[in-house]
Amino acid sequence: MKKLMALGLALTMVIAVMAGCGQKDKEVLTMGTNAGFPPFEYKEGTEIVGIDVEIAKEIAKEMGKELEISDMEFASVVTSVQSGKVDLGIAGMTIKPDRLEQVDFSDTYYKASQLVIVKKDSTITAADLNGKKIGVQDGTTGDDYASETYGSSNVSKYPTGMDAVMALTSDKIDAVIIDSYTAKALAKKNADIKVLDEELTSEEYAIAVQKGNTELLETVNKVLKRLKEDGSIDKFTDQFVKE
Ligand code: ARG
Repeated sequence: MKKLMALGLALTMVIAVMAGCGQKDKEVLTMGTNAGFPPFEYKEGTEIVGIDVEIAKEIAKEMGKELEISDMEFASVVTSVQSGKVDLGIAGMTIKPDRLEQVDFSDTYYKASQLVIVKKDSTITAADLNGKKIGVQDGTTGDDYASETYGSSNVSKYPTGMDAVMALTSDKIDAVIIDSYTAKALAKKNADIKVLDEELTSEEYAIAVQKGNTELLETVNKVLKRLKEDGSIDKFTDQFVKE
Protein backbone atom coordinates (compact mmCIF):
# COMPACT_ATOMS: atom_id res chain seq x y z
CA MET A 1 0.00 0.00 0.00
CA LYS A 2 2.80 2.37 0.99
CA LYS A 3 4.57 1.50 -2.21
CA LEU A 4 1.46 2.30 -4.22
CA MET A 5 1.13 5.65 -2.48
CA ALA A 6 4.77 6.41 -3.15
CA LEU A 7 4.28 5.54 -6.80
CA GLY A 8 1.21 7.76 -6.91
CA LEU A 9 3.16 10.61 -5.38
CA ALA A 10 6.03 10.13 -7.80
CA LEU A 11 3.62 10.13 -10.75
CA THR A 12 1.96 13.29 -9.48
CA MET A 13 5.36 14.92 -9.28
CA VAL A 14 6.27 13.86 -12.80
CA ILE A 15 3.00 15.33 -14.09
CA ALA A 16 3.60 18.53 -12.11
CA VAL A 17 7.10 18.87 -13.59
CA MET A 18 5.74 18.28 -17.08
CA ALA A 19 3.02 20.88 -16.57
CA GLY A 20 5.66 23.28 -15.32
CA CYS A 21 7.63 22.76 -18.50
CA GLY A 22 4.51 23.40 -20.55
CA GLN A 23 4.07 26.77 -18.93
CA LYS A 24 7.54 27.76 -19.95
CA ASP A 25 6.57 27.45 -23.62
CA LYS A 26 5.85 30.95 -24.81
CA GLU A 27 2.33 31.88 -25.79
CA VAL A 28 1.84 32.58 -29.47
CA LEU A 29 0.79 35.77 -31.24
CA THR A 30 -0.52 35.07 -34.73
CA MET A 31 -0.22 37.44 -37.63
CA GLY A 32 -2.47 36.90 -40.63
CA THR A 33 -0.99 38.13 -43.89
CA ASN A 34 -0.56 37.51 -47.59
CA ALA A 35 3.12 37.07 -48.28
CA GLY A 36 3.22 38.18 -51.89
CA PHE A 37 3.49 41.89 -51.21
CA PRO A 38 7.07 43.16 -51.14
CA PRO A 39 8.50 45.08 -49.31
CA PHE A 40 5.90 44.50 -46.55
CA GLU A 41 5.71 40.69 -46.64
CA TYR A 42 7.21 38.30 -49.12
CA LYS A 43 9.03 35.01 -49.22
CA GLU A 44 12.78 34.65 -49.22
CA GLY A 45 13.12 30.93 -49.77
CA THR A 46 10.64 29.49 -47.31
CA GLU A 47 10.95 32.35 -44.84
CA ILE A 48 8.45 35.20 -44.76
CA VAL A 49 10.23 38.54 -44.40
CA GLY A 50 9.51 42.24 -44.77
CA ILE A 51 8.60 45.47 -42.98
CA ASP A 52 5.35 44.08 -41.54
CA VAL A 53 7.16 41.01 -40.20
CA GLU A 54 9.66 43.23 -38.36
CA ILE A 55 6.80 45.26 -36.85
CA ALA A 56 4.96 42.09 -35.82
CA LYS A 57 8.11 40.72 -34.16
CA GLU A 58 8.31 43.89 -32.07
CA ILE A 59 4.68 43.55 -31.00
CA ALA A 60 5.23 39.91 -30.04
CA LYS A 61 8.36 40.84 -28.10
CA GLU A 62 6.47 43.54 -26.21
CA MET A 63 3.87 40.93 -25.22
CA GLY A 64 6.44 38.25 -24.34
CA LYS A 65 4.93 36.01 -27.00
CA GLU A 66 6.27 34.06 -29.91
CA LEU A 67 5.27 35.30 -33.38
CA GLU A 68 3.54 32.87 -35.71
CA ILE A 69 2.79 33.94 -39.28
CA SER A 70 -0.25 32.62 -41.04
CA ASP A 71 0.01 33.13 -44.81
CA MET A 72 -3.35 33.25 -46.56
CA GLU A 73 -5.25 34.87 -49.43
CA PHE A 74 -5.34 38.61 -48.92
CA ALA A 75 -9.15 38.62 -48.97
CA SER A 76 -9.16 36.24 -45.97
CA VAL A 77 -7.01 38.40 -43.70
CA VAL A 78 -9.84 40.66 -42.48
CA THR A 79 -12.29 37.80 -41.93
CA SER A 80 -9.65 35.77 -40.07
CA VAL A 81 -9.08 38.67 -37.68
CA GLN A 82 -12.83 39.13 -37.35
CA SER A 83 -13.39 35.48 -36.40
CA GLY A 84 -10.39 35.38 -34.07
CA LYS A 85 -8.53 32.82 -36.16
CA VAL A 86 -5.52 35.16 -36.06
CA ASP A 87 -4.72 37.92 -33.56
CA LEU A 88 -3.46 40.56 -35.96
CA GLY A 89 -3.96 41.39 -39.61
CA ILE A 90 -0.70 42.94 -40.80
CA ALA A 91 -0.63 43.04 -44.57
CA GLY A 92 0.09 46.53 -45.85
CA MET A 93 -3.60 46.94 -45.26
CA THR A 94 -5.37 50.18 -46.11
CA ILE A 95 -7.99 51.50 -43.72
CA LYS A 96 -11.33 51.71 -45.50
CA PRO A 97 -14.99 51.95 -44.45
CA ASP A 98 -16.14 48.38 -45.18
CA ARG A 99 -13.16 46.94 -43.29
CA LEU A 100 -13.86 49.28 -40.35
CA GLU A 101 -17.20 47.53 -40.00
CA GLN A 102 -15.46 44.16 -39.59
CA VAL A 103 -12.33 44.94 -37.55
CA ASP A 104 -10.68 47.71 -35.55
CA PHE A 105 -7.60 49.45 -36.92
CA SER A 106 -4.49 50.68 -35.15
CA ASP A 107 -2.82 54.03 -35.75
CA THR A 108 -1.47 54.28 -39.27
CA TYR A 109 2.13 53.39 -40.07
CA TYR A 110 2.63 54.03 -43.83
CA LYS A 111 1.13 56.20 -46.54
CA ALA A 112 0.76 54.72 -50.01
CA SER A 113 -1.07 55.20 -53.29
CA GLN A 114 -2.14 53.08 -56.22
CA LEU A 115 0.22 53.16 -59.19
CA VAL A 116 0.03 51.76 -62.69
CA ILE A 117 2.51 49.19 -64.01
CA VAL A 118 2.84 48.68 -67.77
CA LYS A 119 5.30 46.85 -69.99
CA LYS A 120 8.61 48.64 -70.46
CA ASP A 121 8.02 49.34 -74.14
CA SER A 122 4.38 50.36 -73.70
CA THR A 123 3.13 53.87 -74.53
CA ILE A 124 0.03 53.54 -72.32
CA THR A 125 -0.36 56.41 -69.85
CA ALA A 126 -2.60 56.56 -66.76
CA ALA A 127 -5.10 58.56 -68.86
CA ASP A 128 -5.43 55.74 -71.42
CA LEU A 129 -6.72 53.02 -69.17
CA ASN A 130 -10.36 53.21 -70.23
CA GLY A 131 -11.31 50.04 -72.05
CA LYS A 132 -7.93 48.45 -71.35
CA LYS A 133 -7.50 45.13 -69.58
CA ILE A 134 -6.34 45.80 -66.05
CA GLY A 135 -4.92 43.31 -63.56
CA VAL A 136 -5.17 43.70 -59.79
CA GLN A 137 -4.65 41.66 -56.65
CA ASP A 138 -8.04 40.27 -55.66
CA GLY A 139 -9.79 42.06 -52.80
CA THR A 140 -7.37 44.98 -52.57
CA THR A 141 -7.90 48.72 -52.80
CA GLY A 142 -6.34 48.49 -56.27
CA ASP A 143 -9.16 46.11 -57.16
CA ASP A 144 -11.72 48.59 -55.73
CA TYR A 145 -10.24 51.49 -57.65
CA ALA A 146 -9.95 49.67 -60.97
CA SER A 147 -13.39 48.07 -60.75
CA GLU A 148 -15.09 51.37 -59.86
CA THR A 149 -13.20 53.45 -62.41
CA TYR A 150 -12.98 51.13 -65.41
CA GLY A 151 -15.78 48.62 -64.73
CA SER A 152 -15.28 45.13 -63.32
CA SER A 153 -15.59 43.52 -66.75
CA ASN A 154 -12.24 45.14 -67.64
CA VAL A 155 -10.57 43.97 -64.45
CA SER A 156 -8.80 40.62 -63.99
CA LYS A 157 -8.21 39.59 -60.40
CA TYR A 158 -5.11 37.64 -59.40
CA PRO A 159 -4.10 36.00 -56.10
CA THR A 160 -0.99 38.23 -55.79
CA GLY A 161 0.51 41.26 -57.49
CA MET A 162 3.25 39.01 -58.86
CA ASP A 163 0.66 36.90 -60.64
CA ALA A 164 -0.81 40.08 -62.14
CA VAL A 165 2.65 41.15 -63.34
CA MET A 166 3.17 37.71 -64.91
CA ALA A 167 -0.09 38.16 -66.82
CA LEU A 168 1.15 41.58 -67.95
CA THR A 169 4.49 40.33 -69.24
CA SER A 170 2.77 37.50 -71.10
CA ASP A 171 0.41 40.04 -72.74
CA LYS A 172 -2.77 38.76 -71.15
CA ILE A 173 -3.50 42.23 -69.75
CA ASP A 174 -2.41 45.81 -70.55
CA ALA A 175 -1.68 47.23 -67.09
CA VAL A 176 -1.54 46.38 -63.38
CA ILE A 177 -2.84 48.68 -60.64
CA ILE A 178 -1.20 48.06 -57.30
CA ASP A 179 0.16 49.79 -54.17
CA SER A 180 3.10 52.13 -54.70
CA TYR A 181 5.80 50.40 -52.65
CA THR A 182 4.91 47.03 -54.12
CA ALA A 183 4.77 48.39 -57.68
CA LYS A 184 8.29 49.74 -57.27
CA ALA A 185 9.57 46.58 -55.59
CA LEU A 186 8.16 44.41 -58.40
CA ALA A 187 9.60 46.69 -61.09
CA LYS A 188 13.03 46.51 -59.49
CA LYS A 189 13.02 42.76 -59.98
CA ASN A 190 11.64 42.77 -63.49
CA ALA A 191 13.32 44.64 -66.34
CA ASP A 192 10.30 44.09 -68.62
CA ILE A 193 7.99 46.43 -66.70
CA LYS A 194 7.86 50.08 -65.62
CA VAL A 195 5.85 52.08 -63.11
CA LEU A 196 4.00 55.24 -64.18
CA ASP A 197 4.28 58.36 -62.00
CA GLU A 198 0.60 59.17 -61.58
CA GLU A 199 -0.77 58.46 -58.07
CA LEU A 200 -4.35 57.27 -58.38
CA THR A 201 -5.29 57.21 -54.69
CA SER A 202 -4.04 58.25 -51.30
CA GLU A 203 -4.13 55.54 -48.62
CA GLU A 204 -2.88 54.74 -45.15
CA TYR A 205 -1.85 51.36 -43.78
CA ALA A 206 -2.80 50.13 -40.32
CA ILE A 207 -2.93 46.90 -38.34
CA ALA A 208 -6.26 45.12 -37.85
CA VAL A 209 -7.41 43.56 -34.56
CA GLN A 210 -10.68 41.90 -33.61
CA LYS A 211 -13.43 44.44 -32.88
CA GLY A 212 -13.44 45.49 -29.25
CA ASN A 213 -10.01 44.06 -28.38
CA THR A 214 -8.83 47.36 -26.91
CA GLU A 215 -6.08 45.75 -24.87
CA LEU A 216 -4.33 44.36 -27.95
CA LEU A 217 -5.03 47.55 -29.89
CA GLU A 218 -3.39 49.66 -27.20
CA THR A 219 -0.33 47.43 -27.18
CA VAL A 220 -0.08 47.65 -30.98
CA ASN A 221 -0.38 51.45 -30.89
CA LYS A 222 2.20 51.70 -28.13
CA VAL A 223 4.69 49.64 -30.15
CA LEU A 224 3.96 51.56 -33.38
CA LYS A 225 4.53 54.85 -31.55
CA ARG A 226 7.85 53.63 -30.23
CA LEU A 227 8.97 52.29 -33.63
CA LYS A 228 8.11 55.61 -35.28
CA GLU A 229 9.85 57.66 -32.61
CA ASP A 230 13.03 55.63 -32.27
CA GLY A 231 13.64 55.45 -36.03
CA SER A 232 12.93 51.71 -36.35
CA ILE A 233 10.27 52.19 -39.04
CA ASP A 234 12.76 54.22 -41.10
CA LYS A 235 15.33 51.51 -40.52
CA PHE A 236 12.93 48.79 -41.74
CA THR A 237 12.16 50.92 -44.81
CA ASP A 238 15.87 51.26 -45.58
CA GLN A 239 16.32 47.55 -45.06
CA PHE A 240 13.51 46.35 -47.33
CA VAL A 241 13.03 49.16 -49.85
CA LYS A 242 16.11 48.65 -51.93
CA GLU A 243 16.71 51.54 -54.29
N1 ARG B 1 -3.17 48.20 -49.44
C1 ARG B 1 -3.99 47.35 -50.24
C2 ARG B 1 -5.25 46.99 -49.49
O1 ARG B 1 -5.31 47.17 -48.32
C3 ARG B 1 -3.28 46.09 -50.68
C4 ARG B 1 -2.70 45.25 -49.60
C5 ARG B 1 -2.23 43.89 -50.08
N2 ARG B 1 -1.48 43.26 -49.07
C6 ARG B 1 -0.91 42.03 -49.16
N3 ARG B 1 -0.22 41.59 -48.16
N4 ARG B 1 -1.07 41.31 -50.20
O2 ARG B 1 -6.19 46.51 -50.06
